[in-house]
Amino acid sequence: MERPSNRSFKRRGNRITLAQETALNKDWATYGIPEETAINPREHFPEAKRLVMEIGTGMGEATALIARDFPDDGFFAVELHKPGLGALLARMGEYGISNIRLVEEDARVLLQYFFPKGELDAVHLFFPDPWPKNKHWKRRIVQEDFVELVAGALRPGGHIHIATDWVPYAEWIAEKFSASKSFVGGVVAKPDFRPLTRFEGQGLRKGHEVRDFIYTKI
Ligand SMILES: C[S@@+](CC[C@H](N)C(=O)[O-])C[C@H]1O[C@@H](n2cnc3c(N)ncnc32)[C@H](O)[C@@H]1O
Repeated sequence: MERPSNRSFKRRGNRITLAQETALNKDWATYGIPEETAINPREHFPEAKRLVMEIGTGMGEATALIARDFPDDGFFAVELHKPGLGALLARMGEYGISNIRLVEEDARVLLQYFFPKGELDAVHLFFPDPWPKNKHWKRRIVQEDFVELVAGALRPGGHIHIATDWVPYAEWIAEKFSASKSFVGGVVAKPDFRPLTRFEGQGLRKGHEVRDFIYTKI
């Protein structure tokens, strides 16, 4: 198994609050999936109407709200930032929901080696790190090979929903997906079900324009 040589995530401190640590100690064993674990999604959610993977869930605000609004769906939250995983577990407790599994893994590794093909109904990628400097563009998670990994994980007719507040990254995303023969789609109005997160609010206050994309697997 080969791990990507570049990091698509920023190095952040692992400073953790008491609430996040408490949630991890209490609930990680129930809802957490550690790195390098092969996942059979239907084993986790045998009855789910749809299977959804969110990549880079951050502090889990959008993840928990969407999972609460769609109780019949099963969600895989993929994130490498431990405090964020703790925050999401704490929110699950607060909302009384159990339809999320937290996967502590690089999404690129997960999709390549540990997640089956053709089973997901949707992938969410909300506000991926934009890596604005051109020397860092190779770190952007959206690359030709990532687009095809996502295509492989989706069932035909399934889709990826992406949101970004960085216009040059939006242009990059449009370019990578239109070059792929696996998807059709493009810019859409913000779907009502995607909640506004603190991260997005900060971007909007700085005057950033947010674009949503939906690409459907052919
Ligand atoms: C800018 S934050 C956005 C978080 C959240 N989606 C939101 O809208 O508030 C991007 C997140 O993606 C995560 N991330 C980046 N690359 C990743 C990867 N390869 N696999 C899993 N998570 C990743 C980072 O750790 C970070 O938490």
